[in-house]
Amino acid sequence: MSSRALSKYILKCPRCGFEVEANPYVMRCPRCGELLDAVLIADRVRINWGSLRDRGVWRYRDLLPEPDNVITMGEGSTPLIRLRGYGNAYVKFEGANPTGSFKDRGMTVGVSLASSIGVRGVIVASTGNTAASAAAYAARAGLECVVVLPKGGVARGKLGQAMLHGARIVEVPGTFDNALEYVLETVLSNGHVEDAHYYPLNSINPWRLEGQKTIAFEIVEEIGVPDYVFVPVGNGGNIYAIWKGFRELMELGIIDRVPRMIGVQAEGAAPMVRYWRGLGEARVDNPRTVASAIRIGKPVNWFRAYRAAKYSGGMFIEVSDEEILTAQKVLGREGIGVEPASAASLAGYIRALREGLVDARDKVVLIATGHALKDPDALLAGNGNNAISISSIDELKALVINGKI
Ligand code: F0G
Repeated sequence: MSSRALSKYILKCPRCGFEVEANPYVMRCPRCGELLDAVLIADRVRINWGSLRDRGVWRYRDLLPEPDNVITMGEGSTPLIRLRGYGNAYVKFEGANPTGSFKDRGMTVGVSLASSIGVRGVIVASTGNTAASAAAYAARAGLECVVVLPKGGVARGKLGQAMLHGARIVEVPGTFDNALEYVLETVLSNGHVEDAHYYPLNSINPWRLEGQKTIAFEIVEEIGVPDYVFVPVGNGGNIYAIWKGFRELMELGIIDRVPRMIGVQAEGAAPMVRYWRGLGEARVDNPRTVASAIRIGKPVNWFRAYRAAKYSGGMFIEVSDEEILTAQKVLGREGIGVEPASAASLAGYIRALREGLVDARDKVVLIATGHALKDPDALLAGNGNNAISISSIDELKALVINGKI
């Protein structure tokens, strides 16, 4: 890999301040063990906002790692859709990415880096979307892909995608938290990538998160700085990445404030809410929710997520499974199809409006993280089958022409 790839960055510990020269292998602080931040060095960055080229994630290459091999499928540039039913809100529809979730923004950067440093393959633990995305981008790069999944805990669409793209699937007992532990214990030693054959692309990897921060750049280009951004939180990487994107634009003098970041969790899997309220560690032992993508009890990025909410003036809130499924339906009836976890952002917004945490005039962006087709079982279970069986044209005529339908 050329030395230019990460040359605009240093790796810095957000807890003890220790700094390491940017490289693809060190993920945790060698001194205190915290996950390291990839920090852009302002005088190494040159960006001319007015003359940005292309579309998608690589439009912002000036603010991203620049690996030699770029593995891209046009991810990013997702629609920002005005919500009709509630307040002053827009839905950032990440389901429109190549594999149907925001993970593709991260994987285009992460897999490009893996390909450039010359590894045999990539490895991830996943509740499904990371697996689908890693599998697709690895396939495109000609790399092997190992996905470690909680047995029985992954929605069928995502499992099918990982199979389609030729990933090696390993199932483990327990939840995502167990799967992640298997992966990190296998490939990381003291936060340093040990087995360079399989490069880890979970969100502990700061370079993958660099891709995800482009969500913030696109929002700013389209509608300026919103007042609030609602993000469904599982492992906590995405809320941090989006906040980091806004903060970098502020540091570069492109915007003058950062939106309040609101992390939304499902009631049965809300370790960040617990921590936020001062009720103990960011940890829930037996996470439960219908939203399998965010069924996570030990968010590895808890400190990153915490900083995003705290330093933006935001917070963490929780919603019930019922509120999530209602919000999924509300979006569905507006033509926007999301999986349950993604509907948590609207569920959180509805609750925040009701509780007066947010004013209906505030400009809000709801991150809709993954596509409805990811979880077909949730769609079929949640909407009732109102199909009418007929067997003659006359019956259809009777229904349609006589308005009986
Ligand atoms: N929404 C969806 C649809 C997700 O798949 C995830 C995470 C999140 C929200 C939460 O993002 O973890 O950065 O806080 N899915 C991971 C996976 C865990 O394996 O696909 P986060």
